[in-house]
Amino acid sequence: MDGKIALVTGASSGIGLATARRLAVSGARIALVARGRERLEAAAAQVGSERTAVFPLDVKNLAELETLPQRVVDRFGGLDIVVNDVGLNHRGPMLGNSAAELVDVITTNLSAPIALSRAAAPLIRSGGSIVNVASLAGMVPVHHEAAYSASKAGLRAFSRVIREELRERGITVSIVSPGPVDTPFFGDVEGVPSLVFSQPMSSADKIAEAILRAIRDGDEEIAVPWFSGKLCTLGYLSSGLLKALRPAMERRGEKNKRAYLARKATM
Ligand SMILES: NC(=O)c1ccc[n+]([C@@H]2O[C@H](COP(=O)([O-])OP(=O)(O)OC[C@H]3O[C@@H](n4cnc5c(N)ncnc54)[C@H](OP(=O)(O)O)[C@@H]3O)[C@@H](O)[C@H]2O)c1
Repeated sequence: MDGKIALVTGASSGIGLATARRLAVSGARIALVARGRERLEAAAAQVGSERTAVFPLDVKNLAELETLPQRVVDRFGGLDIVVNDVGLNHRGPMLGNSAAELVDVITTNLSAPIALSRAAAPLIRSGGSIVNVASLAGMVPVHHEAAYSASKAGLRAFSRVIREELRERGITVSIVSPGPVDTPFFGDVEGVPSLVFSQPMSSADKIAEAILRAIRDGDEEIAVPWFSGKLCTLGYLSSGLLKALRPAMERRGEKNKRAYLARKATM
């Protein structure tokens, strides 16, 4: 990554922050993007102020987002890597959320990465890459996460198509699809469907490692954990199998969720 310029959204917390740290250690310079300036500046201090610049913005503001790649080029003199990491989830039954909340999930998780990829691609130098952070929920839809599952499935589909289109420009497009990750993204853990916890929990750094591997090797998709990705593919291919496995997975997920909450309570 020596000498590469990266733009990472969601860079003040969780997976985005861990990715920025790893990129900096590998020699890249990084544009850090999130809404809160203070948390971004704290992240920049952690990652290394000499390697970073902060760009506070809300990715839902698509017009401002589209100007970002050029601002990064103006600041650093080039652009090689874009990591679309920002995500939003409003859990619960569809009828428990307003239309505006559901649309916000799509704007944040799907429209924003589309707008940023479109604006960045002409500026990304040959040999560069786009990595889109999706979710296992984009492989097999999760109960009470309709808009979230739809947004991540859409992001996977978008990524696969532009992967073919951008190949001739020497740009790779990869998807990283995590299972549960121990970050503040869960919010109120009680409201997270038990099924989510049926898969092993990863650290943010484990997902960042996968993102750096995708940048280096240009993989089409990396699911973390690997086995959960295979299970999701099987579940997608056979909805009968998924239905049959679901009660056992929910029981296991509920047990894991209680253990996770107990661990958090002692921290
Ligand atoms: N954690 C999981 O279990 C899990 C599992 C599968 C997939 N994922 C995906 O992984 C990605 C990162 O999640 P995470 O767990 O690292 O979350 P996180 O720790 O909550 O971090 C979210 C980051 O995004 C920023 N952000 C949120 N909304 C934004 C907006 N509208 N505009 C600009 N920045 C915004 C936040 O900063 P500000 O609030 O200051 O803006 C923060 O830097 C998401 O796409 C998520 O869907 C997470």
